[in-house]
Amino acid sequence: MSKPLVVAIDGPSGSGKSSTSRGVADRLSLAYLDTGAMYRAMTWALLERGVDLEDPRAIAAAAGDVRLTSGTDPLDPTIHVDGTDVAEPIRSSEVTSAVSLVAAVPEVRDMLVDLQRETIAQSAGIVVEGRDIGSTVAPDAPVKIYLVADAAARAARRAAETGEADTAATELALARRDEIDSTRAASPLAKAEGAVVVDGTHLTLEEVIDTIVGIVDAR
Ligand code: DC
Repeated sequence: MSKPLVVAIDGPSGSGKSSTSRGVADRLSLAYLDTGAMYRAMTWALLERGVDLEDPRAIAAAAGDVRLTSGTDPLDPTIHVDGTDVAEPIRSSEVTSAVSLVAAVPEVRDMLVDLQRETIAQSAGIVVEGRDIGSTVAPDAPVKIYLVADAAARAARRAAETGEADTAATELALARRDEIDSTRAASPLAKAEGAVVVDGTHLTLEEVIDTIVGIVDAR
């Protein structure tokens, strides 16, 4: 049996990874996994449990009891914590500002990477988006994309999503999160070996999807 097609899409916050990855999965009839949603769901669960997120050992101790389930339909991706639908609360500013602390804890990453690999192995083909997919989760993925956009474009996109009027504040918050994500010791955000850089700054969503589908078709 041939291996399932894995398309790894990594990149910084606000580069358009989610809409792009869902669009690519839909166009190619592949499943879709949003690994950022998993780190967010873990963060939500730990906040609910009152865990001190400044304490990596407390995070590591509590994370093992959290049960995450991800639905992989690109047209209706879902995420549950212990059976509760958390798709909405994981986008709150409280979760967004705390998620980098949780994502930096090696025990959390090991646990979620295992879950991500299980989901990939069970799929017939999948688009996986995150920060460390091409480098750590699926280093053998036949297609690896590193999706970027300049800081102002990313902030404008994120501000439009969240309804935030202050784009400068959004740009600052994104830069802060990228800094933590890129400088952490465990699987920092970085372009994976063999990844193709796609710059979406001056492209529409459809154009970015077309570009990546073209790369998949040409592999
Ligand atoms: O893509 P996102 O904004 O929903 O990701 C939320 C956070 O999770 C982000 O700060 C980086 C982290 N993350 C990670 O460390 N590794 C991944 N594979 C995906 C996300």
